[in-house]
Amino acid sequence: MAVANPGAMDETAMRHCIERKRDGHALSATDWDAIIDGFMEGRIDEAQTAALFMACVWRGMTFEEAHALTDAMVRSGESISFDRSQGIIVDKHSSGGVADIVSLVAVPLAAACGARVAKLSGRALGHTGGTIDKLEAIPGFNAALSLDTFIRQVESIGCAIAAQTQALVPADKRIYNLRDRTGTVPAMGLIAASIVSKKIACGAHAIVFDVKTGPASFTPQPEQARELAGWLVEICKGFGRKAIAFVSDMHQPLGRTVGTGIEMVESRDLLRTGGEDDRARSLVLKIVAALLDASEIGGGEERAAKALADGSGYAKLVEMVEAQGASRGALEGMELDAKPLTVKASQAGFVQSIDVVHLGNAGRRLSQHDKLGGLFVTAQIGDRIEAGQPLARVYGKDKEHVRNLEASFKIGADPVEPPPLVYDTVT
Ligand code: URA
Repeated sequence: MAVANPGAMDETAMRHCIERKRDGHALSATDWDAIIDGFMEGRIDEAQTAALFMACVWRGMTFEEAHALTDAMVRSGESISFDRSQGIIVDKHSSGGVADIVSLVAVPLAAACGARVAKLSGRALGHTGGTIDKLEAIPGFNAALSLDTFIRQVESIGCAIAAQTQALVPADKRIYNLRDRTGTVPAMGLIAASIVSKKIACGAHAIVFDVKTGPASFTPQPEQARELAGWLVEICKGFGRKAIAFVSDMHQPLGRTVGTGIEMVESRDLLRTGGEDDRARSLVLKIVAALLDASEIGGGEERAAKALADGSGYAKLVEMVEAQGASRGALEGMELDAKPLTVKASQAGFVQSIDVVHLGNAGRRLSQHDKLGGLFVTAQIGDRIEAGQPLARVYGKDKEHVRNLEASFKIGADPVEPPPLVYDTVT
């Protein structure tokens, strides 16, 4: 039986919801509404809410429940509304990875091609990096934009990347914190509702998702990532938004650098020089092509590559950085430690696997007291390595304290195929 009136969610009604979920039943949209309302109003406590989420982890949630929870979470706060008649607004979201520089490059690049990109981003979580921390490594950069300023900047220069605010989806902030503390993050429905609610509240008309798969992601198996991708796309459609999701690899760092400011430097240089033909650049081009498609501009990867080569993507990055309080000089003055330590291979062979979580944690540690501290990873899965050859360089004040990095690279005698960059595209 569903709770008829959201105001009626109290301790007893919540206990019934927990018991029904524990016994494998689905809760109704009215129940989910009442639960979020009761939690935010303080009528139900964290203990009961965490018990319900643990039942969701074990019993799963239906797609309808995930949609209903998304809706209830969106309504916990304000929402941005962009006028569709003024053009399509697009957004891009990654489910979180190591050396994932895509947003920093793709947002200005897509804007340089004519797209209008409104992106609210998060901070580092666990071993994964946060786009906002990377941008804030530019001296003077302001990520704390008011919603009005955020909207005006997207309308005037075509892009903005700002920190998530309390005004949008306040329920997610509290619920995410509770899930983090109670081991209840890995439930497909909870993850999908958490991600999509923030995207819907941000007001974009179309969203491009990048769902990571591999040991350093929330969805280690490609089938799990495909399922999450499908749910993200379908829930968005239920809210009248267009969406596409890539399932991309996280068995190794995507870019070459791991940290915060060091990743900003890599992104800056990719836009400034056009970059090398590597995995990060390839994924950027695919995602920009999808953003252009969603914006009904088209032109695909070719158009994105042209904006990379002719410097217009870099000019847009500088424009965005200046609009958000930093200067071109501050961006271009970011320089890495001139004397990094080199991590060398003690044996010859092929790189079989990379402990991405360990590298992600090391990068975060190195950038804690030195924004430009971090790693530059030179070896990738499948590479042939000779004894004494560099695997990574370590930058920053704390470089002497980071130990055991060689162990993150498993080297063996047999040749190995590198993992694919993109496993699937879900529309
Ligand atoms: N990212 C989010 O925003 N929420 C989750 O639950 C997991 C990843």
